[in-house]
Order: sequence, then C-alpha cells, then structure tokens
Amino acid sequence: MTKPKLRIGLIGSGFMGKAHAFGYATATRVFDLPYELELHTIADINDEAAAKAAAALGFSHATSDWRSLVADPAIEVVNITAPNALHKEMALAAIAAGKHVYCEKPLAPLAVDAGEMAEAAEAAGVKTQVGFNYLCNPMLGLAREMIAGGELGEIRGYRGVHAEDYMADNAGPFTFRHDPAGGGALADIGSHALATAEFLMGSAAGPITSVMGDCVTMIAERPDGKGGKRRVEVDDVGRAFLRFASGATGSIELQRAVFLLHRRSARPSGVPPHRGRTGPSALWLVLRRARSSARL
Ligand SMILES: NC(=O)c1ccc[n+]([C@@H]2O[C@H](COP(=O)([O-])OP(=O)(O)OC[C@H]3O[C@@H](n4cnc5c(N)ncnc54)[C@H](O)[C@@H]3O)[C@@H](O)[C@H]2O)c1
Repeated sequence: MTKPKLRIGLIGSGFMGKAHAFGYATATRVFDLPYELELHTIADINDEAAAKAAAALGFSHATSDWRSLVADPAIEVVNITAPNALHKEMALAAIAAGKHVYCEKPLAPLAVDAGEMAEAAEAAGVKTQVGFNYLCNPMLGLAREMIAGGELGEIRGYRGVHAEDYMADNAGPFTFRHDPAGGGALADIGSHALATAEFLMGSAAGPITSVMGDCVTMIAERPDGKGGKRRVEVDDVGRAFLRFASGATGSIELQRAVFLLHRRSARPSGVPPHRGRTGPSALWLVLRRARSSARL
C-alpha cells in the first residue's frame, strides 16, 4: 500500500544535521511508520555547502537560503539543526508558515524565548519535537516507569552528571558553542541534564521549582581561526543545587572542558585509549530508602 509522503526540510548539515538525516533515511526500515519520509531540501550557509550536503545525505534540493526552505509549500516538516542563536527565528518562521517543527536543543538560550516558541506552535496547532534524544533511551524510560510506579520507594534526592570532553583542549577553536547569544555549557548540555532530571523526577517530585548555581569559564580564550585568539565569555562548567516541587532536593553537574580522555599523557598506563569523540555521560539516581540505595 502506498503511504502518504512527509517531506522534510533540514536546516544545517553539520554534526546533528547528519545524525537527523541518517535517522530519516533509516527510520522506515526499522519502524512501521504511517508515512514515507522524503528528504526534500537541505539548507546551509552557502550554495556549495548545501549542494555538497544534499549529495552526501540524499536530499533532492539544496539552498543557501533557509527562508526559501521554510516558504516551500512542498515541505511539511522543518528540521532545525543550525546553531542555537538561530533556532528561534527559524522556528517562528516555520510555525508561521504552518510547518511542523523538529528543533534541536536548546530551543533557545533564554527561557522567555523558548516559551514564545512553544506558545506560537501551540497557537498554530503544528506538531513539534525537540532533540532531547536521551529521553528516548529505554534505560531512562524504564527508570521513569519504576519511579512513577513507586518501585523505588519515596524519591528524596536526585543527582545528574553530564560530563563530556569536547571542549577540554585549549587549542579547540572558537565556535558557535562559545557565542554568548547561543549560551554556553548550561544551554548546550545543561539542557539535556535539566530535561533528564524533570523527565525522571516529574511524576514523583514534580518540576524543578528553584535552583542555586555556579557557571565557570575554564578556558578564557580560544583560537579564532584567523591566527588570533578570541575571548570566551560563556561557561564551560555548570553546577546547580535543585529543589523539586515535592521538597526533594538534588544537583546537576555539566562539564565540557574539565578532562580530556583521549590525551595519551593523561591516561594511566594500562588504560585503553578512549575511542569515541566524547567522554562518558553518566546519570546517577540517588534515592534513600529504608536500607538501600540504587544507582542507574
Ligand atoms: N541532541 C543532541 O544530543 C545534540 C548534539 C549535538 C548538537 N546538538 C544541537 O544541534 C545544533 C547544531 O549543532 P551541531 O553540533 O550539528 O553544529 P555544527 O556546527 O556541526 O552544524 C551546524 C550547521 O548549521 C549550519 N548553519 C549555520 N548557520 C546557518 C544558516 N544561517 N543557515 C543554514 N545553515 C546554517 C552550519 O554551516 C553547519 O552545517 C545545536 O543547536 C546543538 O545544540 C544537539
């Protein structure tokens, strides 16, 4: 039986653009979806980058003008994997054009802007999705079910750590992840840590109601790509104490520039080299019951 087509327009063909394109290309082979997904148009910063990405990722059209992608009546879903500071403008334009929007996290570095985006989507009645991919991890789903079902007892405390090393090298260049308009580590990976905390704790402890935190810049300047240095004004590390509506307390820690696992000199002898791009992300759920605690 022929299924209706859902045509995708993807803005940004970097790390996440490739991951999303890969997902669209393989989703229908794994899941029985009610639609056939068509990789219609990809947008990037210039014609060359867009054309190269279209050829590599299987899109039939390419453009250097994301606004033309958003305005294209053939496209039903606008997928945003551009730098953080651009999300709001792109998403609001897509919503105004009646498109469904899949936007990467953070929706926006400021809560007020993210709220505006959410309200606009709700008012327009379009479907939305945000790239909180960790929430789709079956392990987290099971933990959430166990908490909601009371299997773990009364939840009084939470500890979340999102630790990566992709900014730990002082020689790493200045990118959009250092742009004050796009936010620092708090926006970049803190968004994952906060989403995970509320995803797991929501049913048992309600939302986070107050925070007390500390954000630090570990590497004060980075190569600007033109032979000079550029000052970094955003945070590389963030730590926060949390309070949930139920009175439960907790903490989250996010870091992207504290350790560098793949540096041979930093590794004790006998420890195998780290193969991945990032360091381990660990989520600890600490709970106090009569006699035991559990680590997930
Ligand atoms: N969900 C996750 O786990 C996860 C992981 C990594 C990144 N992200 C998010 O994805 C987004 C992109 O991150 P990335 O790592 O792919 O960055 P990246 O730098 O690899 O890619 C960004 C892409 O956007 C393009 N771009 C920039 N300005 C543009 C414009 N005006 N029009 C069209 N294209 C433009 C760039 O040329 C590049 O191809 C960020 O919001 C980031 O927070 C999410």
